[in-house]
Amino acid sequence: MLRVDVQIFIIIILGTSDCQIIPRIEECGLACSQGIHCKSKPASESDIFNSFCRVAPTTSSATALKSMKLSTVMKCVKGSQCFLHLNVKGTLSLSENIRGLEICYLSLDTQQTSCMNVRFSRKTNQQPLGRKIQVQFNCFEVKAAQHIYVTMKTIPNYCEVKLSQEYYVEDCRNNDVGKHIPSCSGKLDYSVDRAKKVISVNISHFPGDQDYYVRLCHKWFICEDAGALARVKGKESLKSISLQYSQLLPCLCIEGWEAVPDAKRIQLCPFKNDTKALWDNIMYNAATQTLAWEPACPVQVRVSLCRLMKSNYQCVDFQNSSYTIPENHIRYSRVDSHPGLCMKFTTKQGSWIRCPFAHGKFPVWKMRIAGREEQIQVSFTSQTKAQLSVLVCNQMQLSSCESVGTHYSVSLGGSDSTSINIPGEICSSKVCIQAWRTDVDYSVPLQICDIQCALSSRNRDEDENSLKVISLTAIILLLATVLTILGHKFLTVFHRRTHEGRSPAHLMRCSSSTGMKSTQPWH
Ligand SMILES: *[C@@H]1O[C@H](CO)[C@@H](O)[C@H](O)[C@H]1NC(C)=O
Ligand SMILES: *[C@@H]1O[C@H](CO)[C@@H](O)[C@H](O)[C@H]1NC(C)=O
Ligand SMILES: *[C@@H]1O[C@H](CO)[C@@H](O)[C@H](O)[C@H]1NC(C)=O
Repeated sequence: MLRVDVQIFIIIILGTSDCQIIPRIEECGLACSQGIHCKSKPASESDIFNSFCRVAPTTSSATALKSMKLSTVMKCVKGSQCFLHLNVKGTLSLSENIRGLEICYLSLDTQQTSCMNVRFSRKTNQQPLGRKIQVQFNCFEVKAAQHIYVTMKTIPNYCEVKLSQEYYVEDCRNNDVGKHIPSCSGKLDYSVDRAKKVISVNISHFPGDQDYYVRLCHKWFICEDAGALARVKGKESLKSISLQYSQLLPCLCIEGWEAVPDAKRIQLCPFKNDTKALWDNIMYNAATQTLAWEPACPVQVRVSLCRLMKSNYQCVDFQNSSYTIPENHIRYSRVDSHPGLCMKFTTKQGSWIRCPFAHGKFPVWKMRIAGREEQIQVSFTSQTKAQLSVLVCNQMQLSSCESVGTHYSVSLGGSDSTSINIPGEICSSKVCIQAWRTDVDYSVPLQICDIQCALSSRNRDEDENSLKVISLTAIILLLATVLTILGHKFLTVFHRRTHEGRSPAHLMRCSSSTGMKSTQPWH
């Protein structure tokens, strides 16, 4: 037999009586029972008459105030910043003389007083006498753990007709207050000493004698430790601490919390604009020729490799070298450690260029040219092994150089200089010699232009020579006239000697105008 037992579970859901939750309000204000129109205004000096009491004219006036209830409510702005308000609920029965209420509170800690008048409109007269009406007012801002004294009087002020009550606002031990009221987690004031790389933090406004923790952290998804945790003794009157930092970064935050479980943490991240240090994080491995950059903070940035042009200080991107972060890191392999090879970082705020090789700490290669009479000698030195491609080209615009068709390949071993000879016939005033590394992916070409090579200097020399021939001829004619007087024999010998002297003079001029030319570091 199959017996089906149906069991009925009666589940009693007990309301989790979390009396710790403080009711929320969106806006503070005044509310009166239905049918009663009321208005509030801050009590001022003109209300001085209400501070003198008179005898209540009727029993109904003398017993008008029935009850007063006090509680705390919380008003939060944008979900994060919260304030505590005192919620005053009064009950009174209508009596013909009563035009309103005065509610005052006195802070027993600071002796500060604040009063509010609630006026009923004339129409209230049409309400039956003795009707119970409620007045609720919650615009008094109070502080956690504040000790206050609240009084409620009628307007006019009848002697002995008054309700009063002492009240303690919930303190930071209340979970809801502790979590949402800023003063419950202390206040951090900081100052930065950029020279010593120290941030000094003062801690104030947190209740109790608990110790306090302060740390520096880098905010990614969570805030990651950036230094040791500092503990400040709760008993010390001046709660102050100094924290060392290595770099001021946009994601550097100061975090503080009370040394109790689940304490609310306050976080200040005041360096959001200090982005400069982010770009200094470039590393180069000379052995693998790898250039890498890792963002030290979450950042939206476009990274590229570029060639710094000496002519206009523009940094021209290498093709296909551009990446957009967020990515974990950027890595370029096979990069020539040339002083003119740079990294460009572009964000919404602007563009930054960093040239990691500009200070000459890394191996470089050099090109120099020397002119010979009929050819140009190009010599190379390199601190590392390198493969070069060398090209003779005609300079077109600022940065473009058109090949004239001759390519040379050069292998550099490491220490010795290697040279090639390029025939001088290809020379013209716009000619350049360009060389770049072919054994890397990113190489900045070296270029030497305006080569005064043998051919062009000879052309120029020939013009000069013809001038000289003319003047020489004049001198000769003059000499000849003089010498004619001296005699025929002398003339013949002298003429032969000047002619012999011309050739060596020509050679000397040529070699001086095409002498050693030092390398331009880059174009
Ligand atoms: C920290 O407190 C000390 C002593 O009261 C004061 O001299 C200093 O200016 C304060 N520093 C900050 C950042 O508020
Ligand atoms: C950062 O710079 C912006 C614009 O210049 C400015 O409005 C903002 O207040 C600065 N922030 C900080 C934390 O200095
Ligand atoms: C850049 O990338 C494009 C497409 O991937 C490719 O066709 C081109 O050859 C690349 N250029 C260089 C210089 O690597």
